[in-house]
Amino acid sequence: MSPLQHVNPRVRGIRVSSHSSLQNLAAHITQEITQGAQKSFKVVLDVASCDPRQAGMKPISFVQQVLAACLYPQLLKDQSLPLDVRLRAQSLLEVCDGESVGSYTASSGLPHVRQSIAEFIRRRDAGVPSYAKDVFISGGSQRALMVIVKLLAREEGETRTGVLIPVPCPHTLPMLLDEAGVTLVPYRLIEEGGWAVDLDQLHQALKTARGHCEPRAIYISNPGNPTGHVQDRKSIKEIIQFAAAERLLLLVDEVYQDSVYGQDREFISYKKVLFEMDKAYSETVELVSFHSLSSACMGECGLRAGFMEVVNMDPEVMHYVDTMLCSDISTPVTGQLTLDLMVNPPTAGDPSYDAYAQEILHSWATLSQNAQRAWQFLNGLPGMSCQPAMGGVYLYPSLHLPPEIIEQAKIFKVEADVLYCQRLLQEEGVFVGAGSQHGEETDRHHLRLCVLVPSDTLEEVLARLGSFHHRLVDRFARSNKGVRGRDKWQNTVTEHVVPC
Ligand SMILES: Cc1ncc(COP(=O)(O)O)c(C=O)c1O
Repeated sequence: MSPLQHVNPRVRGIRVSSHSSLQNLAAHITQEITQGAQKSFKVVLDVASCDPRQAGMKPISFVQQVLAACLYPQLLKDQSLPLDVRLRAQSLLEVCDGESVGSYTASSGLPHVRQSIAEFIRRRDAGVPSYAKDVFISGGSQRALMVIVKLLAREEGETRTGVLIPVPCPHTLPMLLDEAGVTLVPYRLIEEGGWAVDLDQLHQALKTARGHCEPRAIYISNPGNPTGHVQDRKSIKEIIQFAAAERLLLLVDEVYQDSVYGQDREFISYKKVLFEMDKAYSETVELVSFHSLSSACMGECGLRAGFMEVVNMDPEVMHYVDTMLCSDISTPVTGQLTLDLMVNPPTAGDPSYDAYAQEILHSWATLSQNAQRAWQFLNGLPGMSCQPAMGGVYLYPSLHLPPEIIEQAKIFKVEADVLYCQRLLQEEGVFVGAGSQHGEETDRHHLRLCVLVPSDTLEEVLARLGSFHHRLVDRFARSNKGVRGRDKWQNTVTEHVVPC
């Protein structure tokens, strides 16, 4: 008998997201195209999750050049590279053991990079102190979150750890928390309020959870994935007060901090607001904030590096954070060095500054214009409505589906929005995320669209989506008038349905 027949029951219990079944379908369609299948489209466009490089967004030249020189130090003498590139690569190599990116580092990250991150946080938060010892580098911010949640997880039954999570939330979050072995305590964000966090919902969620588990932390995504909402100072302060009163650890995912484009909205970190409050809060509320290379303007998700800053945590617990990270041995060094470049970019007067500033601005402007363009387009489709986004990389339109589709979905035991996404993928080769992946109730339906893609890709996505959507609406309008369009939809659904 294979030892793997006894798979850890906790792993068996991890929910499989419908995102993976859609992902498999997208891969299958791509393979069919490669093998010569005739379709109305030549390529599948994936806007379900954000991978700027895969989508064709250009990388930052300064980052590529410094990494190239670090990987191939002969380039340090190459006069065709700007001087600041060569100097930066030289100084980064000097902080690596053996002056090589191929060496291990301390499990919490290179001390030099942790120091750069602390200085970045201090500048960002207008002088609020930040210390390298409180900064931990990991192979992505999700890995850092997992480390903290695993530290919190304990017991079964009533004393099992609960973590408050927003609905909707990042689609990978429920799986991560399942794997860590905690109970999910959902709190609803208010769509009509632009997806703002609502205190009543938080209290309600806590009340419902107590007795089933012991809530010990609250997770916040700000700027919000997938909602695009950006919290203001007042809202952040209220959440901090709530966390303090309920003795909850604040887990704040701030990976989209460089991607705020909403009018009169700016990114304000939880830490900054916490340190503006009186000592009863600033010296006691435990806060962990996360940032990542995968974030919008840098977009280097494949280099796998992120970090967390831990505030007001017991030194003994901090010791265990270190211990947990030891099992990773070392975060990829190229990723760590790129973190250094992200938090400490060229400044005015440096030879690379103009190109760097232009490239970052281009990425940000594409994001902002695309968000506006897609928002207008989606709101123009019948049965679709979308709150304006203020930041982050997603739009999250609400979908009012005809009752016939909802019935069909029930028969096939899939969520109706997943069925919509499957059909869109099959008919038009557009891969968008389904709202039911975000812990939504089944009577609400949404789509998740990443808008950090080149503008012409976005136009193509919208054209295909619009064409599918109009066909769908037309089919059901005709079926309601007794025309035979409905049969066609049902038949094609049966052929391809992928259960979630
Ligand atoms: C809310 C959220 N957190 C974290 C990440 C990044 O995770 P990682 O740093 O592990 O790539 C993303 C995706 O970029 C995200 O949308």
